Amino acid sequence: MSTKSPDLHAAYALDSPEDHKRLYAEWAGDYDDGFAAREDYQLHIHTARAFVSAGGQGPVLDVGAGTGLCGAVLAGLGVGPIDATDISAEMLDQALRKDIYRDAIEADLNQGIPVPRDSYSGIVSSGTFTHGHLGPEALPALLNVARTGAQFALSINAKHYESLGFADALHQLAHGQIQNLSLPEVRIYGDLAAGPNRDDTALIAMFEKI
Ligand SMILES: C[S@@+](CC[C@H](N)C(=O)[O-])C[C@H]1O[C@@H](n2cnc3c(N)ncnc32)[C@H](O)[C@@H]1O
Repeated sequence: MSTKSPDLHAAYALDSPEDHKRLYAEWAGDYDDGFAAREDYQLHIHTARAFVSAGGQGPVLDVGAGTGLCGAVLAGLGVGPIDATDISAEMLDQALRKDIYRDAIEADLNQGIPVPRDSYSGIVSSGTFTHGHLGPEALPALLNVARTGAQFALSINAKHYESLGFADALHQLAHGQIQNLSLPEVRIYGDLAAGPNRDDTALIAMFEKI
């Protein structure tokens, strides 16, 4: 275990699933009160609000749920039931403490999600489609577990969107698998953020499964 506490810089440089598990195991206890509070993290709020504004309903899967920040906003907006999935058992432990999730599913999204097809009417994700984390190759697994008509709200770091070719992947899916695609851009952090990423933005990929 390193002596330096985990931070965004370290998270963006992650490579293997084992690296993710190691870093997030270390970060889980301090993520909300440290990183999220200090950087005035807002992306989970934008993502949950966009989902609800589009008419999104439960059951919802929160992908890369982490400590449950997005799920907590969704629950506060009256959405449920919500399941959490994440590669990190320690992050899911923190999420379960919020007492808003029906179930917690430990899984590497790049290996699929161990739930039956057509399980969810909504899929949300905040902060997990980003540098060193999930790319567009994870999208088919999410479509598999979504029902026809399911609403998606997936935040994607704007620079990651460009560098990993999300535009091509989404436009290919738009030929018969998804519809009503829109990509509102939001700031990831609020006015109190001080770190080098304070002005970073994300696109929220909003679409429905056909
Ligand atoms: C930056 S955190 C975001 C957490 C939360 N959604 C939020 O907005 O605060 C990214 C999360 O993605 C998870 N993650 C990274 N790679 C993953 C993978 N391959 N499969 C599932 N979860 C993954 C991490 O464990 C971590 O909890």
